[in-house]
Amino acid sequence: MKKSRKFFILTIYLVAAVTMHSYAQKIYHEEYRPQFHFSPRAGWMNDPNGMIYFNKQYHLYYQYYPNSDVWGPMHWGHTTSKDLIHWQQQPIALYPDSLGYIFSGSIIADANNTSGFGKNGTVPLIAIFTHHNMAAEKAGDKNFQTQSIAYSLDEGFTWIKYDKNPVLKNPGIRDFRDPKVGWFEADKKWIMALATFDRVTFYSSADLKSWTKESDFGAGIGAHGGAWECPDLFPLEYDGHKIWVLLVSVNPGGPNGGSATQYFTGDFDGKNFISSQTDTRWLDYGTDNYAGVTFSNTGIQKTFIGWMSNWQYGKAVPTKGWRSAMTIPRNLGIVKMGNKFLVTSLPVKELNNIYNSQSIIENIPVTHYDLASKIGKFAGLAEINFTADKIETFSVTLSNDQGEKMVVGYDKAGDYYYADRSGSGRVEFEKDFGSFHYAPRLSGKPGLDITLIIDNTSLELFADGGLTVMTEIFFPAKPYTRLYIDSNTGLLVKKLEYHELKSTWP
Ligand code: FRU
Repeated sequence: MKKSRKFFILTIYLVAAVTMHSYAQKIYHEEYRPQFHFSPRAGWMNDPNGMIYFNKQYHLYYQYYPNSDVWGPMHWGHTTSKDLIHWQQQPIALYPDSLGYIFSGSIIADANNTSGFGKNGTVPLIAIFTHHNMAAEKAGDKNFQTQSIAYSLDEGFTWIKYDKNPVLKNPGIRDFRDPKVGWFEADKKWIMALATFDRVTFYSSADLKSWTKESDFGAGIGAHGGAWECPDLFPLEYDGHKIWVLLVSVNPGGPNGGSATQYFTGDFDGKNFISSQTDTRWLDYGTDNYAGVTFSNTGIQKTFIGWMSNWQYGKAVPTKGWRSAMTIPRNLGIVKMGNKFLVTSLPVKELNNIYNSQSIIENIPVTHYDLASKIGKFAGLAEINFTADKIETFSVTLSNDQGEKMVVGYDKAGDYYYADRSGSGRVEFEKDFGSFHYAPRLSGKPGLDITLIIDNTSLELFADGGLTVMTEIFFPAKPYTRLYIDSNTGLLVKKLEYHELKSTWP
């Protein structure tokens, strides 16, 4: 090759590399952009959909409107990951069509080809979702939400909608959506949990195409401040037994306003969900975890992701060109307290794939403890774990030199955890955004353990082995660079681990 030609090719290559790099810089490093929580490159996102683990890959689909940063005609966006932390955005999976927008739903691997969509031994993935017909809704029709299916023969990258959709027609219920399907081994059938206004209706099917109503659960039970949405039914193991969990999102009616996710524990016999629970239990007491469900095809270990926002202000948060991120993936567990089974959530251990430098500090008598100075520098991305043998009042504050601060902590006199974003920065875009959020301490143990996950503009607090969880987003005018712990009753931290985290974007 001639020298000049070589030089020309090299120049083109370099220009392309630099352009791509600066494009990536721009798109994942805008103001407020999370660095290790999934968010789409551009456009509007809400619920996680169709989450499945298949052939060593995690697939996360999501409610997506690519053409604007506010909600619109819903598509299913798609992203994949090998470790639940590094995500690769993929082409859009499902587009709206003549039956309507593509609302939330689930995906299963049809290993026995019960649907008949599989060919030559390929396991078909089946998406079960809600078609939302806008025209019918506007015309005053009640039956505008129906359930449909699509199948994929290439591991979830391309989808073919079933030509006889919908597979479940609307019986005259305005809110009739968000099918979550799982396999019920004892009866060898599929079970669909569907949100039907103020309850969850269970349907069963042998082939995913024809569905029979089995039962209803929830009228008059739990929180009913708004419509029920995005249910998920699955067993978790406790002491060798299966405890069935039903997650139900409700909008509005959350414990601190707006939308939130509650859960019920009980038993499922293939027909009925039976629960003796009389109290309302929240998976997360923060305001920014909604519509979350679990991955299918992960066995008895259940991993959860929620939308890290709230319908009360999701459309108004001050980001430009993109809107909202998902929560950190969390593994769910069960603990028994008295005669109650409670669900715990803890961040997935794969977060250690982005550990950078770490500091371990032991025996800290806290009054005012400047953690940022102690570790050298607080750069906005961190996992912090600390323990104490005796719980005391404490607060953890993130702040900047403008005097803005985000505070989370525990109040011993009131026995509650809290998040205070009143002075956190931009709060004006919604009247309640700057409010004080409470979460009961559920653990009765004398000691304390805390995990905090901080990603520039979000903080996830996991207390007492994940019994009390708070997820909160915030928008300071300048990044927080200060980090300190206070305690006016003298918290003695036994061990503190600080992990600086790396960005997952280029
Ligand atoms: C929950 C929800 C679902 C619906 C989707 C629409 O956040 O309202 O019930 O399927 O969002 O985008």
